[in-house]
Amino acid sequence: MQTITCSAPGKIYLFGEHAVVYGESAICCAVDLRTQVRASLSDTIRISSVLGDTGLDHDRYPYVSSVIEKMSEMADIKGIKLRIDSDIPVGSGLGSSAAVTIATIQALNLLFGCGLGPEDIATLGHSIERRIQGAASPTDTYVSTMGGVVIVPVKKKLNIIDCGIVIGNTGKFSSTRQLVSNVALLKKNYPQIIDPILSTIGRISITGEELVIKQEYGSIGELMNINQGLLDAIGVSSPELADLIFAARSAGAYSAKITGAGGGGCMVALTQLPDVEKVASAITRAGGEAIITRITEHGVRVEH
Ligand code: MEV
Repeated sequence: MQTITCSAPGKIYLFGEHAVVYGESAICCAVDLRTQVRASLSDTIRISSVLGDTGLDHDRYPYVSSVIEKMSEMADIKGIKLRIDSDIPVGSGLGSSAAVTIATIQALNLLFGCGLGPEDIATLGHSIERRIQGAASPTDTYVSTMGGVVIVPVKKKLNIIDCGIVIGNTGKFSSTRQLVSNVALLKKNYPQIIDPILSTIGRISITGEELVIKQEYGSIGELMNINQGLLDAIGVSSPELADLIFAARSAGAYSAKITGAGGGGCMVALTQLPDVEKVASAITRAGGEAIITRITEHGVRVEH
């Protein structure tokens, strides 16, 4: 085999981002936005995407470069040509870094016969994300590898929820590393206040698990909106996110909240299926880029 193309999905959080960094429960879902990595055997290392064409480059391609280095410890990788294409906006809280990391690991795994299984891929992906971002929970890389709806840290797969998902991108870059460290500082300064907020977010996820199983979207929505209030309390909202969130709710969404690190990036709205266009238009009118998507069962896979 000379060339292989692998893809991995991005994700949204129903509940639990930030709290999950401290071991609380979260429910995260793979969405039908994917990053594709085409890998071909070569004599030299080349990485290309809309960001440009380069060799090993930890500034421009930190995740991909780290994957190549790490996997060179497992296989004799003399050279590799990688082409990256993605539907997932970068730095927007939708798990673009996890998706490119996981798709690259699987492409090299298959091309060089490293013998990694899904759990190994998720674990390696997490160690790379953690090294680059500082603190990172295993959630994004696990969901990108396995697909579906997952409650963490127990890593139990739940059923797919069959409702409309509308993402609103503020277009403002959001640094997960920065946001996670802002929350850490708040937690250090006000542990009596922040710790109970984080554990309440964890309890929202645990209560939400039962609602996901029963597909009770109205109640899932209520809990997502409460979760949003708590994310606001720990300082990860922004005026742009708030505008999109309230626009989506006013247009009839069950719920709308930040997804991912916040501070910019994306919000997500849960809607009845016939309402997706209406909610997407409201998000666009409020200044966001609306993306209508669905939850997907498909984690990392080979593309034919
Ligand atoms: C980022 O997508 C989610 C955070 O909880 C960070 C993490 O879990 O690594 C903010």
